[in-house]
Amino acid sequence: MLGLKLPTDPRWVNIVEKNIEEILIDHAYCEQKAASTAISLIVSFPEYTELVEEMIALSREEMGHFKMVHDRIITRGIVLGRDRKDEYVVELLKFFPKGGSRTNQLVHRLLYAGLIEARSCERFRLLSEELEDKELAEFYHKLMVSEAGHYTMFLKFARKYGNREEVDKKWEDLLAYEAQIMKNLGKKESIHG
Ligand SMILES: [Fe+2]
Ligand SMILES: [Fe+2]
Repeated sequence: MLGLKLPTDPRWVNIVEKNIEEILIDHAYCEQKAASTAISLIVSFPEYTELVEEMIALSREEMGHFKMVHDRIITRGIVLGRDRKDEYVVELLKFFPKGGSRTNQLVHRLLYAGLIEARSCERFRLLSEELEDKELAEFYHKLMVSEAGHYTMFLKFARKYGNREEVDKKWEDLLAYEAQIMKNLGKKESIHG
């Protein structure tokens, strides 16, 4: 699915179901970080007009997602609390060397963002299919559809602004690297854990 090389073990959902509050808090932060990523791309690459336009829309949409999850947190009588370290993202961001040309830096950030969207989408799909709570499963189904659109958008921009062949090769290499990271994950009640 989505080009990902290692699917998540569905037993991850069993871990999640034991601690829905924890997954909601972690998920809320994922949405907030997705909005921040969109804004930071605008700040770093303001001359890419089409990207800026799409990132304006995306930051709004992701904040909308954040609100939806935050509302669920409030309804359950819990408090958002502090952010958790996302080990998956920390490991992922080590892949591309720092620096390089401006275009390369843009392409790398777009590919990272696309991959995080793709993996989130895969996790949401699992939740939508496996959760016992059907209302929550339906919620994750809707989010899954929108994250799939984000993944394709980031990949489209990477191919548009970078050299198509090079971008496709980088994407394949990044997918292979991500599969290695995923071997050790799928054991915690977090969206990427
Ligand atoms: Fe989102
Ligand atoms: Fe997204």
